[in-house]
Amino acid sequence: MDNQKNGRRIFLKNTTMAAAAVPFSLSATDFKDESKKGSKGKTKYALVGTGTRGSSSWAKPIIQNYAQYADLVALCDINIGRMEYAKKFIGTNAPTYHSSEFEKMISETQPDTVIVTTTDCFHEQYIVKAMELGCDVISEKPLVTEAHQGQNLIAAENRTGKKITTTFNARFSNESEEIKKILNSGELGKVLSAEYHEYLNVDHGASYYRRWHGKKRFSGSLLVHKASHHFDQMNWWLDSEPVTVKANGKVGFYGKNNSFRGSNCRTCTFKSKCEFYWDIESYGSKELYLSGEAEDGYLRDGCVWDKEIDSYDAMTVEVAYENDVLLSYSLNSYMPYEGQNIAFNCEKGRLEVRVYDAQPWEVDNVFEFRITKNFNGTKAYGLGRDSGTHGGSDDKLRDKIFKPNQPDELKQMADSRAGLMSSLIGIAAVKSIETKKQINIHDLVDFPTEWKWKTKLK
Ligand SMILES: NC(=O)c1ccc[n+]([C@@H]2O[C@H](COP(=O)([O-])OP(=O)(O)OC[C@H]3O[C@@H](n4cnc5c(N)ncnc54)[C@H](O)[C@@H]3O)[C@@H](O)[C@H]2O)c1
Repeated sequence: MDNQKNGRRIFLKNTTMAAAAVPFSLSATDFKDESKKGSKGKTKYALVGTGTRGSSSWAKPIIQNYAQYADLVALCDINIGRMEYAKKFIGTNAPTYHSSEFEKMISETQPDTVIVTTTDCFHEQYIVKAMELGCDVISEKPLVTEAHQGQNLIAAENRTGKKITTTFNARFSNESEEIKKILNSGELGKVLSAEYHEYLNVDHGASYYRRWHGKKRFSGSLLVHKASHHFDQMNWWLDSEPVTVKANGKVGFYGKNNSFRGSNCRTCTFKSKCEFYWDIESYGSKELYLSGEAEDGYLRDGCVWDKEIDSYDAMTVEVAYENDVLLSYSLNSYMPYEGQNIAFNCEKGRLEVRVYDAQPWEVDNVFEFRITKNFNGTKAYGLGRDSGTHGGSDDKLRDKIFKPNQPDELKQMADSRAGLMSSLIGIAAVKSIETKKQINIHDLVDFPTEWKWKTKLK
């Protein structure tokens, strides 16, 4: 067990140090080789971060579904074993590069766009470098985990003229699109306040505490890693941006809140009595993690009772928006069921949406909508979830990204500003919890003067 503990320390140490030590030294002019750009009219993509999301949601679909528009030209990861397994899983002959060879990869394979799907806290360094080396970037949420990273991204985008796309698949789920359409229609008038309550259960919710998401220094906490989806949806639904944030949070269930613990489930002596024992053998992607485990000690089945867990499991957040909307948000990650309660309190009535993701009872519809007008009755209806990962939202997002000239009526494609705004709400919430103060978003980052703000709530 001690070795396993040491292994985990090696992972933390290696990822942090190697990330800091990536020898970025060449300038963009060293990389210009127009003859290698855009072969056969296709866009060339390199992927950095060959874990579950990078491999299964981006790299493999490029090969399987978008080959007429896109070429996957290179893979990059800090873990060679994981990357080689991912390469087979993806089904590509693209060359692989260790993270210390990122510049070499860009120079040799000349991607147009780098897709960033590393652990959250490392997004920024690859985004900045990729743009400096002449590439556009597609980054997974959360765009950044710390405010200074956001500042660096704004500066790099201005300096290089390159473009960041932040991938918010949650904008594409059926209920998300329906909410946007109802609010856009004006049927309920101006939104005055909103509610968003996220329930993660003891299965999916617990999974975050088994790996890096449970440590703030990697994920920024679930207020950044997970809630960035929800804050982005709210920013998008309200068509506004946050001004002040006040929050409370604690680790009240996982982490130190148990009488026993191990290093990881496989080696644990408390297997038979721990309700959170998780058998990695039953996990479809186990080889992706086991193939690289000896190299960096990344334990996919880490203990949810690890005393180092500092990512909150109970949290409440109040956000005041530029358009005067007041948001009340909560996230609890130890619930007996999973889903969401979302509501908008408007001048002419209230829109309520209940999302059922997993619960020990039957429901008629996974998305229940109720629109109630002041003095004017109520109507309720249900919607279903599409097939495909994340309720079909990944397919819709990928189509917009990889197919040329796609319409975007609902403005679902998100740029760096949208990515930053959602991350900053979570970052401000963490700061508010740590300082017990209300945080002004404008005190976190110097925004470009061309970004128009009213900031009357400041
Ligand atoms: N939009 C969504 O629905 C969704 C779903 C899952 C994950 N994500 C995001 O995708 C990203 C990856 O998540 P995941 O679940 O695949 O995690 P993962 O742990 O499976 O994969 C992360 C990969 O990054 C690599 N890595 C770590 N540090 C690195 C570094 N410094 N340089 C290069 N590579 C490094 C790891 O070796 C690993 O292969 C995260 O940012 C996460 O927030 C988004």
